[in-house]
Amino acid sequence: MSDQFKLPEGNFRGYERQFVWLEKPDPELTEVGPGTVGGDYLRRHWFPVAMTDQVGDLPYRIRIMGEDLVLFRETGGQLGLVHLHCAHRGMSLEFGIIEQGGIRCSYHGWKYGIDGTIQERPCEPVGSRLKEGTCLGAYPVVEYRGLVFAYMGPHDTMPPFPVYDTMVEDGDEMIPYLIESPCNWLQVMENAWDPFHVVYLHTKAVRTQFTDAFAEMPRIEYFEREIGDFYTNTRRVGDIIWLRIHDQMLPCFTQNGGHFPLPEQSMYFGRCGLSRWITPIDDTHTMVIAWRHFRGGEHDDPKGLTNKDEVGYGKTDFYGQGADRPYEQRQRDPGDYDAWVSQGPTNIHKREHTAFTDRGVSLARRRLRKYIREVQEGKPVKHLTDVFDNPIPTYGGDTMLRIPPQADKDDDVLIQEVARKVAGIYMAHDEYQGQERVDKLRNALQEYEASFS
Ligand code: FES
Ligand SMILES: [Fe+2]
Repeated sequence: MSDQFKLPEGNFRGYERQFVWLEKPDPELTEVGPGTVGGDYLRRHWFPVAMTDQVGDLPYRIRIMGEDLVLFRETGGQLGLVHLHCAHRGMSLEFGIIEQGGIRCSYHGWKYGIDGTIQERPCEPVGSRLKEGTCLGAYPVVEYRGLVFAYMGPHDTMPPFPVYDTMVEDGDEMIPYLIESPCNWLQVMENAWDPFHVVYLHTKAVRTQFTDAFAEMPRIEYFEREIGDFYTNTRRVGDIIWLRIHDQMLPCFTQNGGHFPLPEQSMYFGRCGLSRWITPIDDTHTMVIAWRHFRGGEHDDPKGLTNKDEVGYGKTDFYGQGADRPYEQRQRDPGDYDAWVSQGPTNIHKREHTAFTDRGVSLARRRLRKYIREVQEGKPVKHLTDVFDNPIPTYGGDTMLRIPPQADKDDDVLIQEVARKVAGIYMAHDEYQGQERVDKLRNALQEYEASFS
């Protein structure tokens, strides 16, 4: 009888590890709602909150950082973003009436301007004692190239609206998209700080989701700057040393390399395929709001894999960014969305075992915590617009240099040297703007490449 069942042998530790289920998320880094320290830091920045296309002739209800809001376009064309509940007795303004200069509550007719100022209270007797003034929360918005951005911080510290160089390139068609994920914003953001998942999830796990060359383990160099970090993601592909350069600007802006580049010929300061923000809806829901860049030409999409028609509300033209596939297919060939959503509503850092490949994630968390604490200490938040005039120089994109292996040098050492040199060339051109910067930067990269021939 005792031989009837052979029990599995092994070092089973479920019982000892059961307590992982009792661990809680890190509130400082993950909570975004009103009155939270993380939310207070996030509110000091401009965030995209919607696609312009979504705002029609009716009020558009949205939720941002745990606040329920209504976005509307008054009949004169200006956008307003106000708290959802009417300041009188709380009817939702999603049922409000849009008028010239503002929105009117359907219940008793109080009318608010785009800044929340009470303009009319038609049911009140003349001389009613409640003074007219601002008593409905409202936030300033900027509409730019198909996206609506809001600033939800203290009005007296509102920074200028940052315009990055990738937002004003000639000949670049920028198509916005917005995709929601049911998880905390930080795990979506951390996916971009984690270049090693590209090797496995996107290439080795099941199949090549982007390009075969991603299977090559990259050398990553992080460049920490006071504002706007970036990293270089460098691989050798034959005679080409390929650098993908990623902008990582806390709290939530990232730009990655081109979408479908082929490392077959030299490319000097190619620009990003994606400018992307991670906007928290609440602690456990998040929006990716981004522009896909379409520049045309063989460099941008040599295999013809892009598809503008697939980019828009709830969708984009590259693999695995949403829940728009059957569950079985997602299990058999998971994408980014499946990675960050399946970490849980809010990933619990105490359960993790971070390793060498998580340097970017650890760096992001450290810096985020520092910035959150600085706000709590009353220190001013640093913005790129403190240092640069618009358009702000960014680096996201690809550079590919024809630098064959050198007889007298270990190739790993060479790749590291090239990454640092190229990063230095990028940073050395921050003082220039527009086409002058692009031309000078490209010349410097060409000269550097030529030094190897
Ligand atoms: S509840 Fe809006 S006017 Fe009364
Ligand atoms: Fe990814």
